[in-house]
Amino acid sequence: MLNLVKRPRRNRQNPWVRAMAQETFIGPQHFIYPLFIHTGEGRIPIKSMPGCARLSLDELYLEAEAALKDEIKAIVLFPAIPEAQKTKFAEEAYNPNGLIPTALRELKRRFPELVLITDVALDPYSSDGHDGLVSDQGVILNDETIDILCKQALCQAQAGADIISPSDMMDGRVGAIRKTLDEHGFSHVSILAYTAKYASSFYGPFRDALDSAPRFGDKKTYQMNPANAREALIEATLDEEEGADMLMVKPGGAFLDIIYRLRQHSQLPIAAYQVSGEYAMLKAASQNGWLNEKKTVLESLVALRRAGADVILTYYARQAAQWIKEGL
Ligand code: PBG
Repeated sequence: MLNLVKRPRRNRQNPWVRAMAQETFIGPQHFIYPLFIHTGEGRIPIKSMPGCARLSLDELYLEAEAALKDEIKAIVLFPAIPEAQKTKFAEEAYNPNGLIPTALRELKRRFPELVLITDVALDPYSSDGHDGLVSDQGVILNDETIDILCKQALCQAQAGADIISPSDMMDGRVGAIRKTLDEHGFSHVSILAYTAKYASSFYGPFRDALDSAPRFGDKKTYQMNPANAREALIEATLDEEEGADMLMVKPGGAFLDIIYRLRQHSQLPIAAYQVSGEYAMLKAASQNGWLNEKKTVLESLVALRRAGADVILTYYARQAAQWIKEGL
């Protein structure tokens, strides 16, 4: 017999004691459900994201209703824009009769309780496939981009967005968007800033989903270097000063340390984005029978919460909500 005063295993002795000792919880209230929409008909499956699809507006309304039944109360919309509507200056990004504003108005009418979140960035609308305007020399133009982002954010707020989520990583965009919203009577609309958005290869399947990959180069002059952590704190300080209501870390799984650091650094709610590549990895391994999907996904989600995320954007939102309800 070892003479041990402390035996941490006592707190793991059975399911009820383990429940008492549990520190972190996940539930549908912690999830934001990202949805892809398109101008065409029906549901078009996304090859690298089995189980996800581009939805027509009719399919979107069905999916939103189903999500509400699963107690998912927040969705974020991403548009697949026809090539013919993509331009150098991304004018479609602030067309009040465009895909996103149309969807927002109808979602608000049908499901007033649903929290509507929109992405602010030019890539779905840009013929260059970049989040910002591109100069003739191939440089991403910061300040010129912000004028367009403000128009886009305002257009989304006018159509009924509750939370505006700039994902473009231009400097100063949070402050400029806050000012624009306030000046036009939308001081009640929140900003969820993609604070630490890394230039990550885990976005690959998302760009397939929207055909939004950059036409040249990469996004490294605006998205962050995955090797950096201190820099995330610089971004967090700026976003807070500029009026962000919530901060986001993206991707989530490979950046748990960044979530943790922001949690220490800021009093604001923190969101983590379990991105398309994380979904694809979990899905592919599960479909091969190499991982237990339900258990691994729930573990990946609770890990994001444990690191300090209040809320998680995940393509697994509905399924996870159902699994949590079933119990493990
Ligand atoms: C676009 C945007 C991207 C994602 C969300 N908004 C892609 C990118 O920056 O290239 C990625 C989401 C995902 O991979 O699930 N600004």
